[in-house]
Amino acid sequence: MTQVLAFGREDWQAPADAHERDGVIAALEAGDVVAFEHLPFVFTEQERALSQSSLLGDSKNISYSSATGELKGCNAGPAELQVLHGLLARYADYSQTLVRTVLAPYTDGLQVARTSFRPQEISGRPTSWRKDDTRLHVDSFPSSPVQGRRILRVFSNVNPFGESRVWRVGGSFEDVARRYELPGPLWGSSQLLNWLHITKSRRTAYDHHMLRLHDSLKADAAYQSGDQLTHEFAPGTTWLVYTDQVPHAAMSGRYAMEQTFLLPVKYMRNAQLSPVKVLERVLGRELV
Ligand SMILES: [Fe+2]
Repeated sequence: MTQVLAFGREDWQAPADAHERDGVIAALEAGDVVAFEHLPFVFTEQERALSQSSLLGDSKNISYSSATGELKGCNAGPAELQVLHGLLARYADYSQTLVRTVLAPYTDGLQVARTSFRPQEISGRPTSWRKDDTRLHVDSFPSSPVQGRRILRVFSNVNPFGESRVWRVGGSFEDVARRYELPGPLWGSSQLLNWLHITKSRRTAYDHHMLRLHDSLKADAAYQSGDQLTHEFAPGTTWLVYTDQVPHAAMSGRYAMEQTFLLPVKYMRNAQLSPVKVLERVLGRELV
């Protein structure tokens, strides 16, 4: 069963000693959630005022690319956009510093993906079962294949009203991988998806299986009500998790920051624990 393990860090950039680094890496690679319960990401006055305004009422997610500086998901005016841009860019910076410090052995391989601000309340949001993140699932991106790379995410609860962000987490990835029939992709389908620009790069057999697992878990009523842990992340908490490995569901809460990183498995301490290696063992063939 996945655990949420608390670590004592209270500073985004203080150097990490070998004890902390080894503990955090071992926990993440084993499929646990690493929680820094006193590591708040603090808003400026301006950001606080803007983040609670009706401007963001309809946005589930405001997302940001630190590679291009592009902001998506909000239709605010230029002055507000500048504040939001600053907020997301700062979170991208903070979380990169944190990850490069605490997970120093990964640094050469870390690829920075999107940053998001999630102001909207999760519970009660109307959505299809496939997009319903209140159901346990592992992350897999239909249009952005990761081709075996890990999905490592940093989250911070920035709720200004004292409300926790409530998650459920399930069991081991290996159990999930052995739970379902996993037929391979149809011949030629990966090229077709790429030609039609449905995917941004080639969807490997690994990506195909991960999408199946994402959907199979969400559709599996027995899994959804089976062994699991519910955890409340209080405001001021920052947590790290491999969301491609840990079945997770976000049940309630509003106002969170999130930063995604991708990591080729060769940079892991123990690549055998990665979903791609587990699936390759279970299926008896190479997947990327
Ligand atoms: Fe997710």
